Amino acid sequence: MKNSNILNNDYFCIIMRIDIITVLPALLESPLSHSIVKRARERSLAEIVIHDLRRYGKGKYRQVDDYSFGGDAGMVLMIEPVYRLIEELKKERPYNEIIYTSPDGIPFSQKEANRISCLENIMILCGHYKGVDQRIREHLVTREISIGDYVLSGGELAAAIITDAVVRLLPGVLTDETSALTDSFQDGMLAPPVYTRPADFRGWKVPGVLLSGDPAKIREWQEEKSLSRTKQLRPDLLHNTGNG
Ligand code: ADE
Repeated sequence: MKNSNILNNDYFCIIMRIDIITVLPALLESPLSHSIVKRARERSLAEIVIHDLRRYGKGKYRQVDDYSFGGDAGMVLMIEPVYRLIEELKKERPYNEIIYTSPDGIPFSQKEANRISCLENIMILCGHYKGVDQRIREHLVTREISIGDYVLSGGELAAAIITDAVVRLLPGVLTDETSALTDSFQDGMLAPPVYTRPADFRGWKVPGVLLSGDPAKIREWQEEKSLSRTKQLRPDLLHNTGNG
């Protein structure tokens, strides 16, 4: 069954479950235990379970990686522990998506976050060192995602970023739900600048229109600023009809 996010009108709320597989659980625990994600977990709007792959490791030392065939430098996550853990999880529930974080995945975007936030159960397998045995990618993974054209030491930070971007879209997670609708990228444009009190700080003034109390004028100003900032800072977004 599909979940619904704040961008859909058809609100029927299912708790989203995210299982994250990693050899470094500590790297994920902190980013997923604060702020908006923490609140979502506390309110049972999202269930996030971090699995330590090492528990499925081989032998006394719980081995989870090995040298790659072909002699390239660097360790590769072994097929058996990953397979056993994924299959065990799959016995408990069906997964809409098994995501692998890798620099050679599709670029992560707001559009992709919106899409994932409509799913019910997802798994994220964090890449590690040289990656995971290719057979896992071919036979079990359904989506490969990159968070940018640079190489991280592992996929944990990418998994935390994907989880954060998705969880904040779930209904009831943000206190003012409309605020996600006005995020940068949500309509393919950068967000307009925002200001708070005082209206005048040492002569640095808030634009008068924002103090006018005229909602139509304010909206017009915000749209104009969104467009001019996007043109200036991210002109590519204006021509981007695909991945967002
Ligand atoms: N693992 C290493 N680098 C990564 C990236 N850029 N995106 C996702 N996972 C990664």
